[in-house]
Amino acid sequence: MANSLFRTKKIDSILSEGSDHRHGDQGLKRVLTVRDLTFFGIAAILGAGSFSSLGGAVFHGGPGVVILFIITAIACAFTAFCYSEFASRIPVAGSAYTYAYASFGELFAWIIGWALIMEYSIGNIYVAYSWSDYFTSFLDKTGLHIPEYLSTSYMEAKHAIEKGSSSADELAAWNNAPVAGGLRIILDLPALVINVLITYLVFRGVRESRNFSNVMVVLKLAVVALIILVGGALVFSNGLTYNWTPPNDDEVRSFMPNGFSGVMAAVSGVFFAYIGFDAVSVLAEESKNPQKDLPRGMILSLVICTIIYILLTLVLTGAVNYRNFDGVGDPLAFIFEKQNLNIGWMQVLVSICAVIAMTSVLLVFQMGQPRIWMSMSRDGLLPPVFQKIHPKYKTPSFATIITGLVVGVPILFTDKTFVLDFTSIATLFAFVLVCGGVLLIPVREKQPGRFHIPFISGQFIFPLIVAGAIVMAQVLSKNYFADLFHFDFSGNEDYKSGKISFMDAATPNISLIIFWISAVVLAVVAFIKKYSLIPLMGLITCMYLLTGMTKSNWVWFLSWLLIGVVFYFLYGYKKSKLALVESAMQESKTRF
Ligand code: ALA
Repeated sequence: MANSLFRTKKIDSILSEGSDHRHGDQGLKRVLTVRDLTFFGIAAILGAGSFSSLGGAVFHGGPGVVILFIITAIACAFTAFCYSEFASRIPVAGSAYTYAYASFGELFAWIIGWALIMEYSIGNIYVAYSWSDYFTSFLDKTGLHIPEYLSTSYMEAKHAIEKGSSSADELAAWNNAPVAGGLRIILDLPALVINVLITYLVFRGVRESRNFSNVMVVLKLAVVALIILVGGALVFSNGLTYNWTPPNDDEVRSFMPNGFSGVMAAVSGVFFAYIGFDAVSVLAEESKNPQKDLPRGMILSLVICTIIYILLTLVLTGAVNYRNFDGVGDPLAFIFEKQNLNIGWMQVLVSICAVIAMTSVLLVFQMGQPRIWMSMSRDGLLPPVFQKIHPKYKTPSFATIITGLVVGVPILFTDKTFVLDFTSIATLFAFVLVCGGVLLIPVREKQPGRFHIPFISGQFIFPLIVAGAIVMAQVLSKNYFADLFHFDFSGNEDYKSGKISFMDAATPNISLIIFWISAVVLAVVAFIKKYSLIPLMGLITCMYLLTGMTKSNWVWFLSWLLIGVVFYFLYGYKKSKLALVESAMQESKTRF
C-alpha cells in the first residue's frame, strides 16, 4: 500500500500521453506564443492583490511592506525557475500537479491538485469580490447606485455586525436587507454576474479569451504606469517623502513602524499579489513551443510585475500615511481622493482600470482550473467526464462549468479575508512542493533550445546561508532563539485582553521553530546530497513565508487537505491509471 501511494508517473509516459491527446480532433489548439504567455502571466499577477489587498498590507506593515514584497519576489523568482524546469521537462497541462506526480508520487500529486483548487478557484472568489467593489464604486461615480445588500457578501455584513464594525456600507447592507423566511437577502450580485460572464468566455475558447486578455493587459499596464508616474511625481513635488518613515506609537520614526512582525502580518495580501506566474505553465499544451516559451513567459511576467509592485508600494506609502489605509479596499484610487493627492480624474481612471485588471485575472485562473482537472482525470484521479473536450470550441467544457460553480456558489457563503488567507496558504504549500520536487528529479543532459535551471551547487553555500541567517537573527534581535522557545505572551495586547487564544498567540513561535529546524535539516541534507542551490532557496524562502500564517489559516487548510485525502482513497486510489497498470501486472504474474 505504501508503495502504491508514492507510485510516480514516468516523465516519458506523461509526455507521450500529452501528445496522444493532442492528436486529431480531441486535442487543444496550439496557438500561444511567448508574448501571449508573458501577457497571460501579467494578466494573472496584476489584479486584486495590487488594487485591493495592498491597502490592508500597507496598513499592517507601513512602508516597510516593501521589504516583504522583495522577499516574496525572491521566493517567487526561485519558484519560477523550478516551475520552468518542470514545464520544460513536462510541457503538458496540469502545472504543479503533473510535476508532483513525476517527483513525489500519486498521493502528493493528488494533494497538490487539491490545494490548487484553492489557488485557482478560491483565489478567483477574492478577485470577484474585489472586482465587485471597484465596479460598484465606479457605478456610484456615474450616479448609478446598487443597494449595499446586493453588493456585499452575506458573511462580510454578518461579521461587521458581530464585530461592531463602523463600515457604513456593511452596516447598511445588514440593516436595509429584505428578509425572507427569517433570512436576510444579502449577496454580492456583481461578483456572481462577472463569474457567469467569465465562465461563458472560457467555455467559448482560448483564442477569443487570449485576444480579450491581451487587450486588457496593455490597458492595465498603461494605467498602472500612469499611477506610478503621477503619484510618484506628486510625492516628491508635495514634499511627502517623510511618509516613508512615519512615527510609530512611541513617536519614533521608522520605515517599519510596527516592526518586522507588522510586516509579516501582511504576508497573505502580499503573496496573493504575486500569485499567477505559475498559471502560465498550465497552458503548456496550448503553446507553440512550450520548452522555450513557457519558462521565458513565466520569468518575464514575474520580473515586470515585481518592478511594478515595488514602485507602486513606494508611491502608495509616500502619498498617504500608512495608518490611513485601515479598511481601504481601493487603495490605488484612494491616494487620489480629495483629502490625499486630490486628482479626481485619476480616481475614475483607476476604478475603470481596476475592473479591467481584475477581469483579466479572473479569466486566466478560470482557464487554468479546468486544465488541471483535465490532467487529473486523464490519470484516473477524477471521473472521465472532466477531460471531455467541446467538439466545436475545443475547450474542456464540463470542467469549465464545474469551475464556474466552484467559484460561484461560495460567493454566497464566504468573505474576502477568509478566501484571501486560504488561497495564499494553499498556493505557498504548492510552491514548497514544486521546489522540493525539482530536488528529487534526476539531473539531465543539457539539450540545446531547452530551459535548464542554472546549476549552482548548494553543498557549501546553502549551509553557509542557513548559518548566516541564524547568526543574523540572533544579532539583530537579541535573545531571538531564547524568546522563540519561551512562549511568553505577556507583552501581547490581544492575548492579554482575551481577544486571541494561547494557541493563536503561540502559532508564530511554533511556525518559526518548525522553520528553523527544517532549515538546519535541509542544510545537512543539501551538504550530503550536493543539491542545486536555486530550488533549495525556493524551498526555504517559501517555507519562511508560510511562517506568517495564522492558526486559523492552518486549521482550515489542514482540514481541507484531510477532506482531499478522504476523496483520494474513495476514488483516485482505486481508479488511478497507475493502479490499473499495477493490478494488470499483478494478474499476469499470478497467471504465469
Ligand atoms: N495575483 C493575482 C491578483 O492579485 C491573484 O489578483
